[in-house]
Amino acid sequence: MTMSTIDRTKMSVDELYEDMKAHLSDIVPEPELRIKAELAYEINQLKIERNAVILGHNYMEPALYHAIPDFRGDSLQLSRQAAQVDADVIVFCGVEFMAETAKILNPTKTVLIPSDKAGCSLAESITAEDVRELKRRFPGVPVVTYVNTYAEVKAECDVCCTSGNARAVMESFDSDTIIFLPDQYLASNVAAETGKRIIVPTVLPDGGFRYDTSGEYDVIGWHGRCEVHEQFTVEDVANVRAQFPDVTVLSHPECSPEVVAASDFSGSTSAMIRFVQESDAPRYLLLTECAMGDNIAAENPDKEMLRLCMVRCPHMNQITLEDTRDALKYMRYQIEVPEDIRLRALRSVERMLAIG
Ligand code: 13P
Ligand code: SF4
Repeated sequence: MTMSTIDRTKMSVDELYEDMKAHLSDIVPEPELRIKAELAYEINQLKIERNAVILGHNYMEPALYHAIPDFRGDSLQLSRQAAQVDADVIVFCGVEFMAETAKILNPTKTVLIPSDKAGCSLAESITAEDVRELKRRFPGVPVVTYVNTYAEVKAECDVCCTSGNARAVMESFDSDTIIFLPDQYLASNVAAETGKRIIVPTVLPDGGFRYDTSGEYDVIGWHGRCEVHEQFTVEDVANVRAQFPDVTVLSHPECSPEVVAASDFSGSTSAMIRFVQESDAPRYLLLTECAMGDNIAAENPDKEMLRLCMVRCPHMNQITLEDTRDALKYMRYQIEVPEDIRLRALRSVERMLAIG
């Protein structure tokens, strides 16, 4: 995770503008930078007034990512940070399941998300009742759920994981079989990495689901997909490699196993950032939300970043500087989790954080 090393709350609008121009002039058009600097200034003042801390996911748009978060990172790093926040208000610049995780860990603090439209196709893919049904069909099998789920689902599970620790969480169980929800591709990628066999359900016309349990299996998956990462194909990788034979390809493990196999590296958003910072390839192709390529390019001007920007996360892209200012101004949108669900979800989140 990167923590803001510069205290931008002490900067004037002109200083913020110069600071943003120095890092973002190749990425954000000049006339926009001035407007964004003014918004960032307002947000930083409101942050002091409200005694707030801003957590920003790596997918945030470049000006927001650069100018306002106190902490930036992937889901795991931001969950860890959320567990240690010393402020009255947490503004989560990310999607709803992330803000909800912060609330699960901080019931007495006000947790705000700047837009009430920042969902996630993975979180939408499974309900608490689906998990209860799975537990009835596979009694006694431990249930791991990706953090990209809502609190009701986390409450039904044994432990959460993120893309940054999925393998460690899976390997923490001394069990022949594991239920791993809801991302079919993340589960398949971790299964492939650890030499396990996976089954995923067929969705039936009536909305039910059926597993073929006739063969051998170790992991019981689900049919959830990230609407962004599922769109990248092996052909995309081949086309870019044909044009740039020296490209290093990085993919998020929410991509299909075929795309991950065609890549040079696969890891969480922060793992990809670290990989670029620590390696020295002539150019990189990022198979993930496009804004992250901008953010890496802004901080590593010497690195050439290729990305396929026709694929965007419509949920992460809901979070703007304007909405973040309004979140602090009007104290909206407040995340609430019913206490009985929170307490059960907390167990799953805390177990994950304890695994390390
Ligand atoms: P990370 O945990 O790798 O940041 O991923 C979150 C996410 O939603 C990726 O699409
Ligand atoms: Fe969800 Fe995919 Fe968007 Fe991540 S990129 S928030 S997994 S829809």
